[in-house]
Amino acid sequence: MTVFSHEAFADHEQVVFVSDEAAGLKALIAIHDTALGPALGGCRMYPYADEEAALRDVLRLSRGMTYKAAASGLDLGGGKAVIIGDPRNQKTPALLRAMGRAVERLAGRYITAEDVGTTVADFAEVRKATRHVVGLPVELGGTGDPSPTTALGVFYGLAAATRHRWGAESLSGLHVAVQGLGNVGWHLCRLLHEAGASLTVSDVDGSLAAKAVATFAARTVAPEAIYAVDAEIFAPCAMGAVLDDETASRLRCGIVGGAANNQLASEDHGEVLRSRGILYLPDFVINAGGMIRVASERDGYDPDLVDRGVQGIGRTLLAILRSAEADGIPTQAAALRLAQARLAQARGGRAALAA
Ligand code: NAI
Repeated sequence: MTVFSHEAFADHEQVVFVSDEAAGLKALIAIHDTALGPALGGCRMYPYADEEAALRDVLRLSRGMTYKAAASGLDLGGGKAVIIGDPRNQKTPALLRAMGRAVERLAGRYITAEDVGTTVADFAEVRKATRHVVGLPVELGGTGDPSPTTALGVFYGLAAATRHRWGAESLSGLHVAVQGLGNVGWHLCRLLHEAGASLTVSDVDGSLAAKAVATFAARTVAPEAIYAVDAEIFAPCAMGAVLDDETASRLRCGIVGGAANNQLASEDHGEVLRSRGILYLPDFVINAGGMIRVASERDGYDPDLVDRGVQGIGRTLLAILRSAEADGIPTQAAALRLAQARLAQARGGRAALAA
């Protein structure tokens, strides 16, 4: 396994390999970039097939967090942690506290939070060993589950893109295909249903799909069939890398926008979607709502301020869509350009201070 020459290394500032045998912990913490501030990113627990798969995931995810913070105007850097293990039977209080100690050793350069395979309640345990945690339960002074706010940001983003593309004043009457009915997907379905959109949904967990039929009058399709649903919008809210050559060729929607991280299997797929006339809403911009909410814990949570920040996702997306159109480039490339410009400005400022 290589690290520095790994194809996803992308100039990470620091990669930490954590081992605590007594607690059964094997984890990786990646700090991609702290030009804008301390690196914030969730801690995922997943039964990775091997260490290489865990490394690849943490490197890709932490880089994404850098761009997410930069594009959202937050003074934070990008980082991520992954615990190698099955959250269903290997997650123990001792393991969570050991993870907390590893985070504490980084002295604030990395701030952790919940992610796939970990819960807000788990972080009450992590918190016993480190102060550098956000997304804590409300009773511990945190803002609780960030998923509803992530869903709200996706909703604002879809509304802005719909206005941009079709001049539609609302999402009422539109048909949206939602992949994944977990924490974010479910809240998004609720918002879309309340706004008058019709829904087709899929989840590998059939009971969730059945519940969506009953709650939102949704239609349901098998997981593989969701890509080819004839709908205005496709909203991926499950796993990453779902947009590849095969799935992109089956899409029949006009807009792709959802919560999942790293939706494009490779950056080239931004161009694949553009050439098919599909408006792709860059994931790290549209799914930043949760990050905006948990980041607010550091300065004292103010719901109005957070709501204004989350509404800003729609405005940022519009600026990105317009600049991509003006320059004839994929929306993903335009979003990266915006984030990189902010990072370059921060680095320039830092270099000037050091001089
Ligand atoms: P979750 O784990 O609660 O939900 C994911 C859902 O997708 C589950 O119900 C699962 O059964 C389903 N699923 C898995 N594979 C599937 C497939 N092939 N087809 C259909 N359904 C499938 O996760 P959560 O929190 O809702 O997050 C969803 C995505 O959004 C993840 O990629 C996550 O990284 C990303 N995200 C989440 C944020 C949050 O605030 N929770 C913030 C930013 C990004």
